[in-house]
Amino acid sequence: MMYVSRKARFSASHRLHSKELSDEENRAVFGPCNNPNGHGHNYQVEVVVKGEPDPTTGMIVNLRELKQVLEERVVSEARYRSLDRDVPFMKGRISTTENVALSIWETIAPQLSRGELHLVRVRESTNNVVEYTGPGDT
Ligand code: NI
Repeated sequence: MMYVSRKARFSASHRLHSKELSDEENRAVFGPCNNPNGHGHNYQVEVVVKGEPDPTTGMIVNLRELKQVLEERVVSEARYRSLDRDVPFMKGRISTTENVALSIWETIAPQLSRGELHLVRVRESTNNVVEYTGPGDT
């Protein structure tokens, strides 16, 4: 088994706020991340695809294709936008880094013509990173 990864970056704004909670509870849970006018991050995304290289091409997945899928489905949708208001793949989800990783997984996985999505890693800041290895993984 081999693994290939591709990185992408975008800057976006967001605000952590749950409709299930009162304003006071939201402030208590999310702290300054609940500030009404939001704030921004320089997100770094890494996707890892696993598989065996195709005997003809020597590739697990065509990195050109992976780059294009990331660019079209993730970066160009999210870049310079509000994750909460403007980004279709985040619709209906609180914009935690966990949900960004989950949404990117669901966006990318069906688009791969070869290989299997293994990991989505989203770095929201230097110190905050979330990794998602897919539904049902143990
Ligand atoms: Ni934030």
